[in-house]
Amino acid sequence: MNKLPFVTKEQIEGIVKTYPTPFHIYDEHGIRENVKALKEAFSWNKGYKEFFAVKATPNPFLINILREYGCGCDCSSYTELMLSGAMGVQGEDIMFSSNNTPAQEFVLAQKLGAVINLDDITHIDYLEKALGCLPKTISCRFNPGGYFSLGTDIMDNPGDAKYGFTESQMFEGFRLLKEKGVERFGIHAFLASNTVTNEYYPTLARQLFELAVRLEKETGAKIAFINLSGGIGIPYRPEQEPNDIRVIGREVHRAYQEILEPAGMGDVAIYTELGRFMMGPYGHLVTQAIHLKHTYKEYVGVDACAVDLMRPAMYGAYHHITVLGKEDEPCGCLYDVTGSLCENNDKFAIDRKLPQVDIGDYLVIHDTGAHGYAMGYNYNGKLKSAELLLKEDGSVQLIRRAETPMDYFATFDCFDIYEKLAAMDGLEKEGDGERTQKGRVQ
Ligand code: LLP
Repeated sequence: MNKLPFVTKEQIEGIVKTYPTPFHIYDEHGIRENVKALKEAFSWNKGYKEFFAVKATPNPFLINILREYGCGCDCSSYTELMLSGAMGVQGEDIMFSSNNTPAQEFVLAQKLGAVINLDDITHIDYLEKALGCLPKTISCRFNPGGYFSLGTDIMDNPGDAKYGFTESQMFEGFRLLKEKGVERFGIHAFLASNTVTNEYYPTLARQLFELAVRLEKETGAKIAFINLSGGIGIPYRPEQEPNDIRVIGREVHRAYQEILEPAGMGDVAIYTELGRFMMGPYGHLVTQAIHLKHTYKEYVGVDACAVDLMRPAMYGAYHHITVLGKEDEPCGCLYDVTGSLCENNDKFAIDRKLPQVDIGDYLVIHDTGAHGYAMGYNYNGKLKSAELLLKEDGSVQLIRRAETPMDYFATFDCFDIYEKLAAMDGLEKEGDGERTQKGRVQ
């Protein structure tokens, strides 16, 4: 299958006049169509809610689009809670699914009225001490151990994951929480990541629904919601078949009817905490070829680097690349597409077949809308790129400016770079805020 970008060469040539590469650009139309389809797929469940995993794309302009469709926020840290609070997301619209959690994060979650999803049985006491008392509603994260498999395919290895309560701890934890006055309970599990199959959620749902029935029966705890968390994947590779969210919703419904309803639990709300599925395909990293290098291999050097998208360097993850304007040309050249970090793994692609690339060509790196910009860092003193929103009317909005050197140096309270540069002839203007407002200094 030909994987085409949501922008054309002509559009990008217009955009770079105002916002130089590299930048992440997001497709408002795609985000909206996808969230509508998700809501529709789970409309059979009265309490259904998607809590967008803020860690995937922590940008208020993008999250606000999802808010229009009733989505809440899944937060995992202090700053994600702050961001959600500042966007007016409060109370049970926030799911706080953290792990190894510091006390002050629980305190902020409580202040915002978030639902707290505990990662460990020892956190019951820790939370009680941190807050002075326990909230009336609590969720617990379950980890069944072993491997999570679909048929003969091993999808992931929960037994090796640091997250969650064991099965016996779920029972013990629910009893303890109930004794301590908790009234409403939730169950959460995230057992496999980036699953490109319609079977992940339905299989997980069956496991959790069966557990929920036993937990309610044996502990008397009232289960209000079951959180299937994230994990629905996207087709990063052109040959992959995308998930069909309607089939996923229908099969989760079937499990619900077969397990929960007969147990008198037909009022349980289904929650999801999707990140990648909500945003991944609707983001591109747009970058320009600035060097061609011919040594033992052929290299295309681009003006983005792993700071803008870490997944290929970190996981060897595949991200499809389109050379804009050459969509229909044969992929007759074999390239490594590299960034400029002093790290040999700073490669967006290795041995990738592409059309012949010329200096100045714009490359679209696909599927960067989730766990893309968000995972960036500042190694080699590289600065993070801007984020742009391609709106439904075709206009472009800057939704996060590129970092400037001033941002990079901002934490040096005890070493004023700018004062020192000002004392040196001709350097006082280096990297000042205004010049770099639109793009970033290379
Ligand atoms: N909920 C919790 C508690 C999570 O930890 C995550 C992701 C999600 C929801 C959203 O998962 P998603 O739907 O996006 O799969 N950096 C990795 C992904 C790490 C996922 C971490 N947790 C990557 O780039 O593939």
